[in-house]
Formats: sequence, structure tokens, C-alpha cells
Amino acid sequence: MTTWTASRIKAAKGKQKLACLTAYDFSTASLVDEAGIELILVGDSLGMTMLGYPNTIPVTVEEMLHHTKAVARGVRNALVVADLPFLSYEVSVDQAIATAGRFIKEGGAGAVKIEGGAFRAPVVRALLENGIPVLGHIGLTPQSIHKTGGYRVQGKGAADARRLLRDAKELEKAGVFALVMECVPAALGGRITRSVKIPTIGIGAGPACDGQILVVHDLLGLYSGVSPRFVKQYANLGAAMGKAFAAYRGEVEQGKFPSAEHSY
Ligand code: KIV
Repeated sequence: MTTWTASRIKAAKGKQKLACLTAYDFSTASLVDEAGIELILVGDSLGMTMLGYPNTIPVTVEEMLHHTKAVARGVRNALVVADLPFLSYEVSVDQAIATAGRFIKEGGAGAVKIEGGAFRAPVVRALLENGIPVLGHIGLTPQSIHKTGGYRVQGKGAADARRLLRDAKELEKAGVFALVMECVPAALGGRITRSVKIPTIGIGAGPACDGQILVVHDLLGLYSGVSPRFVKQYANLGAAMGKAFAAYRGEVEQGKFPSAEHSY
């Protein structure tokens, strides 16, 4: 078991801000863990960043398990949370338990994340009853883009904001240990954060959330797709990698690599 557990994340509310990141492979997960990040999400965003799908809908359980195992092998301290992919938990409570169970038992995760509001309460309760902690996810839920019509800020109108607040409270009652809030106005992020006793983890939900999460490829400048406004790029590794690849190509073509130093 890692140092950070679901119950420790829950207890951190009001005591410390939680810095969370995604990771999808062993090496990155080790570095993220060594940096002291408290929660590492093996997000289904890997479908886009690692596998080149246009969105998260096509991601399979087997693909998610493959990456979750790699991340779990690299992490000693952070809580590893596995995202349950589209249609792997919606069909029935039994399906959700069977899928989530694989991520704990085979994948080495300490918790799972599911998208959706109050209507997911029965699934949350059933998973918890079976020993599986659940991270909720409301606001913009990318697995529902075909219903919502795309990647849009949620909760802008009064009725929508009230619905999101009710979703947060119902999920808290059902037992989620924390709640991801994606793409909601900062004021609503603050209102929901003050209304629940579990930590809120924002991604485009403003500074009042109890924690923040970013997709690691966005933070590092590694993803070439469209970058949402909430992304802050802390490094431009994409440019650094491009430069390194070009330098290598040049040296090979000019016969400069390998030199005597790199030969036997
Ligand atoms: O899949 C993912 O990376 C996520 C985060 C954006 C929260 O769900």
C-alpha cells in the first residue's frame, strides 16, 4: 500500500492543498511520485495523449489496465487512481464491481474514478461496500461529449449550477472520498468546495478547490492537440524533444555519432 490512501486524501480537506497529476507509464509515474504529488490518476485521457484516439470514448479496459500496472510499479507514495473507461461501469452495478475490481486486483490501483452525478450513487455505494474507494468526477465529463455537444464550461446557468451542487452532495453522501470538478466557473467551484466535507480537485474549476489536477502531457508541453484555457504549461518538453531528435539525426547523417567515446 502507498503512503497516500483514499482515506488520507479525504482527511486532507482543510489541512493542505492537494497537487494531483495524471501519469500513464512507469518512468513518468516514478518522477511524479518523487516530486511529492499526492494523487496520480491513470486517466482515460491516455486514449488521446498516449494512443492517439480523437477522444476518450474508444479507450478499453485492457488498455487502461496495461497503463495502470505500469504506473503502479513506479509509485511508492502517491495514491494511484484508475479511471474506469466508457461503458465499463454504466451497464449495471455488477459490471462496475467486476471492472473496478480488476483495476484494484490486477492493476494495483488504490481507488477508481467514475464520471457522472447523483445518478451514479448506487454504483459508488456498491463499490465502497466491496472495498473499492471511488473518486467522483462532475462538471465537464469527457465520456459524455456526444450528449453535451463538446468540451464546454458547465454550470454557467443557475439551474445547471444547482444541479452540479446537488450532484456533489449526493456523491458525497454515497461515499466518494474526493470529487474531481472539471471546467466549471471559479465561483461555482468555490461554492461546491464550501458545501461538501470531501476534497474537491479542480481542473478548470478555479483556485478555491481543495486540490488541482492537470494532465501531465499538458503541463509538460507534450501534447500537440488543442490546449484548454485551464492548462498552465510548466515546461516545453515537446520542443526540447524535437530539438534532440533533430540533433541526433544530424550527427548520424554527418557521421559524428557514434564517436570513439560511444564505441567499443
Ligand atoms: O482522464 C483524465 O485525465 C481526467 C482528468 C482530466 C481529471 O479525467
